[in-house]
Amino acid sequence: MAVLIGRDLLSLADFSPTELQELLQLAIQLKSQQLKLRCNKVLGLLFSKASTRTRVSFTVAMYQLGGQVIDLNPNVTQVSRGEPIQDTARVLDRYLDILAIRTFAQQDLEVFANHATIPVINALTDAEHPCQILADLLTIQECFGRLADLTLTYVGDGNNVANSLMLGCALAGMNVRVATPPGYEPDAKIVEQARAIAGGKTEVLLTHDPELAAKEASVLYTDVWASMGQEQEADNRMPIFQPYQISEQMLSLANQDAIVLHCLPAHRGEEITEEVIEGSQSRVWDQAENRLHAQKALLAGILGAE
Ligand code: CP
Repeated sequence: MAVLIGRDLLSLADFSPTELQELLQLAIQLKSQQLKLRCNKVLGLLFSKASTRTRVSFTVAMYQLGGQVIDLNPNVTQVSRGEPIQDTARVLDRYLDILAIRTFAQQDLEVFANHATIPVINALTDAEHPCQILADLLTIQECFGRLADLTLTYVGDGNNVANSLMLGCALAGMNVRVATPPGYEPDAKIVEQARAIAGGKTEVLLTHDPELAAKEASVLYTDVWASMGQEQEADNRMPIFQPYQISEQMLSLANQDAIVLHCLPAHRGEEITEEVIEGSQSRVWDQAENRLHAQKALLAGILGAE
């Protein structure tokens, strides 16, 4: 994927529909081991928030490509002591080949990328979680053999995952419905971006009605009701979000062959019931595995692995 060499991934909107499709095809080839790629490069992981899946899948992906990883926990670097982002970026730029950042403000990620010549990957910000959605689309493609014209319904908090899902579905030619309580809608600018990408050919629907959104969907998707940094709001949110729980009843409204996705970690009994996450329509463990394959394809594409 020569077109990706040296590129940043700050938002899914950085990709064209063709680039996204080709990246998913590369992930499928790498997962099946039909194709083996190598690169002798060094990835830095600068994560200011907790992570299991993203941290481990990036690390294993880089090892499998023959590269190395440095875990740059802010607590053991000067980042936690207030070294400016611009300075950290310019120094890490001199050591590393590529950097994945998990932070709070999307703007901090952008400042970092503007001061580094190496590729910078968004490993989650408050605004977006593009790497998660690459794995989600790969999982849907595997389950249905296609993405175009399928309908994905996201119910719950209009958070970073909802934002990136809207962009990813629009790029993939899918319909996307996002059902949230009033006041918890996704980012209005990203909604507009997704609608511009969809160009009226597919639906980008916002609603407060979870049942309407779930009807005849191929994919039901949710995430925790209070994201990292919002824990103090969790108790207040519980009754507001209760109608948005993915339960057997909600699943019965979707298509018979619908699948259920959750980016994890999950709070059973809150945004999803035990029966659904452990049920026959759940694909969350394949989805989690696909973080590895999707990110390996991403790293291989950006680093020009051969
Ligand atoms: N879904 C996800 O990003 O998981 P982690 O927070 O464990 O990386």
